[in-house]
Amino acid sequence: MKITKICCIGAGYVGGPTMAIIAQKCPHIQVTVVDLNENRIAAWNDKNVEKIPIYEPGLSDIVAEARGRNLFFSTDVDAAIDEAQLIFISVNTPTKTFGKGKGMAADLKYIELCARQIAKVAKDNKIVVEKSTLPVRTAEAIKSILDNTGNGVQFQILSNPEFLAEGTAVTDLLFPDRILIGGDTSVEGQDAIQSLVDVYANWVSEDKILTTNVWSSELSKLTANAFLAQRISSINAMSELCEKTGADVNEVARAIGMDSRIGPKFLKSSVGFGGSCFQKDILNLVYIAKSYGLNEVADYWEQVIIMNDHQKRRFSSKIVQTLYNTVADKKIAFLGWAFKKDTNDTRESAAIYVADDLINEQANIAVFDPKVEADKVLTDLNYLDTRTADKNKEKLTVVPSPYEACANAHAIAVLTEWDEFVTYDWIRIYNSMQKPAFVFDGRNVLNRAEMEKIGFVYQSVGS
Ligand code: NAD
Ligand code: UGA
Repeated sequence: MKITKICCIGAGYVGGPTMAIIAQKCPHIQVTVVDLNENRIAAWNDKNVEKIPIYEPGLSDIVAEARGRNLFFSTDVDAAIDEAQLIFISVNTPTKTFGKGKGMAADLKYIELCARQIAKVAKDNKIVVEKSTLPVRTAEAIKSILDNTGNGVQFQILSNPEFLAEGTAVTDLLFPDRILIGGDTSVEGQDAIQSLVDVYANWVSEDKILTTNVWSSELSKLTANAFLAQRISSINAMSELCEKTGADVNEVARAIGMDSRIGPKFLKSSVGFGGSCFQKDILNLVYIAKSYGLNEVADYWEQVIIMNDHQKRRFSSKIVQTLYNTVADKKIAFLGWAFKKDTNDTRESAAIYVADDLINEQANIAVFDPKVEADKVLTDLNYLDTRTADKNKEKLTVVPSPYEACANAHAIAVLTEWDEFVTYDWIRIYNSMQKPAFVFDGRNVLNRAEMEKIGFVYQSVGS
């Protein structure tokens, strides 16, 4: 089938950028991104393209080019489903917060709702593509719902997981390491795969488009995230040993990364990984393994999360210990709240957990982040439900400049690796702080020698 109309359900961090690139690279295809969230759609349609709801370097230019030409954002889900030959499902798949699998399994209610809506609306054959990250064998459930509640039309289900990382979404989408498409081995399944291959082939060379069966594709996505997160937990485990032994984790990472079998990427020790997916996807993997009775497999992967939780808690404990075992009523400046640089996403950011620990110790926190809005910071903290929103507001303030955050502070905690942090006037910051002036670099971004020369007491993760 030659695709001329695509619908994407879910205008989030994946749906928005992914469809913007498809629309830019395939001007002959009409791409409509739909969402139930009216505010989000309104923001995608904002006349001022800088106000689109997701910050990603380069994204606003691409949206500006394609929006209104062949890229549309709408809340009319039914109309978009009806028109499209190919429908991406790109809705959220958070960890379940209730019932069986609570705290581990993926909550598939949004996926099921999409499948039911597609079945209800579709009056002709459709290709339905899983773009969301899903437990292996979810396609089976989607197919069952579509076939049993549909109008007698044919559905082909493909798995096409997304590997983009936030902050580099545009480059990752333009120059992907690979595109993975899983589909049925039947003739119809292979035709559906080819239709999607043809879409990507508009800008991705065919040797980078990998086709597999559906289950391999679904499981490869969970596996990729588990391997990536495992590298971070591995280097973070070493960071604690480095701190005890006088080894420097940056030197260790460099030394092992030069081994071509290990490679240099994803060896940056930190206060812990955040983001909406690593933890959720590993918990999901652990749950799946357990549900097949594979307890050793489950325990193996669960350790990645245990190590990450330990790393976040260890960081806040270290601040308290170093500040003479009390931070009560002391001001601590947070540089960064986003879970990584170049994004305004704060989901599962390590900063949230470090702030929570320090507020438990009655510290006062002043946060500066170049892209995260003040309301978001407090919403994140309130979501933990540790104390009242009023109490959080009393103990944590969000300020518009790093200098204001650091003035009179006893310590600075660097929680995101924003490039601009290194360019600050650190002498001015030092002069404005209580002494001794401590810096806890949770991202290994500042230069130890320079910071110590100014007079800071500098500690980084792993050295
Ligand atoms: P998100 O929360 O930013 O966006 C999901 C959107 O889907 C929301 O705007 C929500 O309103 C909408 N939605 C939910 N149910 C709907 C329905 N029935 N009809 C219409 N809209 C509906 O989530 P995200 O970060 O884009 O992630 C989506 C999926 O992609 C997840 O499975 C995630 O694991 C996966 N993923 C995310 C990333 C990432 O970097 N964020 C990368 C790769 C894969
Ligand atoms: C990650 C994967 O990298 C993507 O391939 C995947 O598509 C995505 O998850 C997903 O499925 O959602 P993302 O979470 O956006 O992407 O960002 P990463 O660059 O992977 O960083 C995740 C976290 O790990 C961040 O908090 C980052 O600071 C931390 N990190 C990363 C480290 O602490 N050390 C490193 O060496 C690398």
